[in-house]
This record gives sequence, C-alpha cells and structure tokens, in this order.
Amino acid sequence: MKKAKPTVYDCTTVQLPQVHTEGGNITAVNNLSEIPFETKRVYYLYDVPGGEARGGHGHKELQQLIVAASGSFDLIVDDGNIKRTFSLNRPNMGVYMPAGLWRELDNFSSGSICLVLASLEYSEEDYIRDYEEFKKFKQ
Ligand code: TYD
Repeated sequence: MKKAKPTVYDCTTVQLPQVHTEGGNITAVNNLSEIPFETKRVYYLYDVPGGEARGGHGHKELQQLIVAASGSFDLIVDDGNIKRTFSLNRPNMGVYMPAGLWRELDNFSSGSICLVLASLEYSEEDYIRDYEEFKKFKQ
C-alpha cells in the first residue's frame, strides 16, 4: 500500500551488489530486488561544473534510486518539515527515494555522474517546481 505522506525517514540507503573482475567492478540493479519498483526510465546528470548545486523540485508519484556512478555529490531530501542530506560517493551505494518528496543536489565534484533509476517515464505533470506549492501538497 502506498504511504500517504512519506517523510525523509522513508528514504533508505541501498547497498548495491558489486562483482569484482580483473578489469574492474560491475554493479547491477534489478527491479523489485535491489529496488522496490520497476524501472521505466534511466537518466544521468553529467558535465555538472564542480561545486555546482542543481535547483530542487518535488515529485508526486515518482520513485527513484539515485547513485553517484562517478565522483560525488550531496542529495538533500525534504518532506516539507525535515531535511536529510546523503553524501553519495560510491557507485555501489544508492539512495531510494519514495514518491512525494522534494530533492536538491549539491556539491558536485568535477566530472561526477548522477545516475537515476526512475519508476515512471518523464512527465512534467509529476513535478512540483515551487517549494510553497510542495508544502501545500504535503499538508
Ligand atoms: P529537470 O528534472 O527539471 O532537472 P533539474 O530540476 O535538476 O534542473 O530536467 C531538466 C530538463 O531536462 C527538463 O526541463 C526536461 C528534460 N528532461 C527530460 O527530457 N527527460 C528526463 O527524463 C529528465 C529527468 C529531464
């Protein structure tokens, strides 16, 4: 059953499996195994200038797994009441975000890659771009 009002404490760090090979490591993320949703979309942020922050937004229905596939950045999650910061810096560690939270990304290291597995296809309708509107949505 979907939780009506997720809080930042519903975000969890996910230790992803890592296969070591002589030529490097491999991490696989499987639907409904490492993550509690079926991935409909994968996107990644790259070429973000070092130290940069990306403006925040909320999602009504979207669930996400966020991974620093390369480099590091901070993920700040916000439920309209409490904020929590996750520092991501390992490709085998992700943060699962349920629907209904606001998120910001900050403090990108130069050359970092923010990989996102998303439960829905891209839809502007699912975004809340105004923080006051997000707070009303959470009430
Ligand atoms: P957006 O999610 O708004 O990023 P941010 O809030 O971090 O700036 O995405 C920026 C633009 O990229 C958005 O206007 C549309 C486009 N976009 C897609 O076309 N598909 C996607 O899956 C995503 C995430 C963004």
